[in-house]
Amino acid sequence: MKYNLSEITELIKNRRTIYPKFYSSRKVHKEIIEHLIRNATWAPTHGNTQPWRFKVYREKSRGKLSEKLGELYKKLTPENLYKEEKLNKIMARPFLSSVAIVVCMERGNNEKIPEIEEIEAVACAIQNMCLTATAYGLGSFWSSPKIIYSKEMNSYLNLRDQDKCLGILYLGYTTIDWPKGQRKPIEYLTDWND
Ligand SMILES: Cc1cc2nc3c(=O)[nH]c(=O)nc-3n(C[C@H](O)[C@H](O)[C@H](O)COP(=O)(O)O)c2cc1C
Repeated sequence: MKYNLSEITELIKNRRTIYPKFYSSRKVHKEIIEHLIRNATWAPTHGNTQPWRFKVYREKSRGKLSEKLGELYKKLTPENLYKEEKLNKIMARPFLSSVAIVVCMERGNNEKIPEIEEIEAVACAIQNMCLTATAYGLGSFWSSPKIIYSKEMNSYLNLRDQDKCLGILYLGYTTIDWPKGQRKPIEYLTDWND
């Protein structure tokens, strides 16, 4: 066997969503962030369009991200869904994380590649980042408040109408025991055709 399958399986199973409120103030080094992004770019991509784009917020720029998320939440959330608690959470996350990476899909010119496949490629890239973060002992949280899909968010990120923000990946060293996950057994999910 070329790779250590038990380690790879452990890594995949141990990737957990860990929220920024459980991160410590310890900084994530730039080299580690670069490693995550480099690994992201090795995701599969139909037609090799490589539609992923990364906008990294560290240090003071996290304040700008927080402000923008707050502003958009206030502006775009219907009154019946608006919660002050949610606003506070959305605005606090960038500060609670050493780094926030906004991951976007930039639509290529090859119209033969359906949009969904460009989105799928970026989702695979995000998973690569989460797995790499897990290997570094970093907690990660793929956050997708509705506002990220708005044209206002596109404009803030300098994205065109055909591009999409797919999430904010928050990262940090954790202050809690690594959480355990749960999944359904494959027997419930799989139809075999022999
Ligand atoms: C596309 C996508 C978007 C997500 N957005 C959110 C989110 O906005 N808020 C949240 O609490 N979790 C979000 N998650 C994380 C899931 O809640 C989490 O993966 C799920 O609870 C399973 O836990 P695990 O990641 O620890 O296995 C998202 C996951 C995916 C794949």
